[in-house]
Amino acid sequence: MNLPDLNKVALAMVTPGKGLLAADESSGTIKKRFDDIKVVSTEETRRDYREMLFRSNEAMAQCISGVILYDETIWQNAADGTPLIRIIEQSGAIPGIKVDEGTQALPGCPGELVTVGLDKLAERLKKYYQQGARFAKWRAVIDISGHGIPSMTAIHVNAHALARYAALCQAAQIVPIVEPEVLMDGDHDIERCYAVTQRVLNKTFQELRIQRVALEGMILKPNMVVPGKKNARQASAEEVAKQTIRLLKECVPAAVPGIAFLSGGQSDEDATAHLDAMNRIGGLPWPLTFSYGRALQAAPQKAWAGKAENVAAGQRAFIHRARMNSLASKGEWTADLEARKAA
Ligand code: 13P
Repeated sequence: MNLPDLNKVALAMVTPGKGLLAADESSGTIKKRFDDIKVVSTEETRRDYREMLFRSNEAMAQCISGVILYDETIWQNAADGTPLIRIIEQSGAIPGIKVDEGTQALPGCPGELVTVGLDKLAERLKKYYQQGARFAKWRAVIDISGHGIPSMTAIHVNAHALARYAALCQAAQIVPIVEPEVLMDGDHDIERCYAVTQRVLNKTFQELRIQRVALEGMILKPNMVVPGKKNARQASAEEVAKQTIRLLKECVPAAVPGIAFLSGGQSDEDATAHLDAMNRIGGLPWPLTFSYGRALQAAPQKAWAGKAENVAAGQRAFIHRARMNSLASKGEWTADLEARKAA
């Protein structure tokens, strides 16, 4: 492992004013997104859609530091034969790869999940590095919507797997994005999200230490501290920002080069407003930016709707969201700018 180089990549991923595009939906998830816009999910439509995003030059060059890809995409060519990964590199963004293989039921823990994909991961990482990937992602999912969950077991096994993954990545000279996601599903209040996320982050960093992961060579991708979607009392952007920052200061060592949030089902504008409010508070040991999937892609998906004649509109929608989040990563976003559509 060459730690200075890993650290360089990690810092580039959180370059001021830039963040990550999570375009790593599995075939099942992208099908769900395409169903919503009435597009049939085929290898070709998935390619056309992602090519549209990666060729949005303004967004890619100015606002996007890296793109998380799904296995299919990292080997795929654009319509003109150019590998999609080259288009990303040419824009100045760093290609990354989702390497977990989804979730499975956790035995003995009804309703809970463990993320899988460690078998043969070392071999897969080698191939991804050769193909150009310089960072990877693994997502653990913690559901807190049911009675008596999360169990200590679910928190432990998921943290253990995240650390195993992270150590393997660093050995392969790939920066791991460590993503322990506490879901927004349910009617819990913001305090409960805080308390569970605290347990999850503490356990995750304990496992990272035990497994000798170099904190300088990773990126943390956490959820924000928010009330459950079904809670009647939703929080203001300022409250989300205050609670999230308090929690991160308690749990995340300053050696971590950066934090890139997931959007987790927040509305586009909420995801942007929350990130902006955090960066307005400022004075933190790490840059805070975005690593959004839905909050960057819902608008372009709708504008595109699978039609070639809508590609320019889809790109405009993506550029707008990328710009808004870029501003939020610097604490310079305003609702006014939000309302102004992309030129
Ligand atoms: P969302 O921003 O849609 O939560 O997706 C980010 C991601 O990469 C989830 O693993």
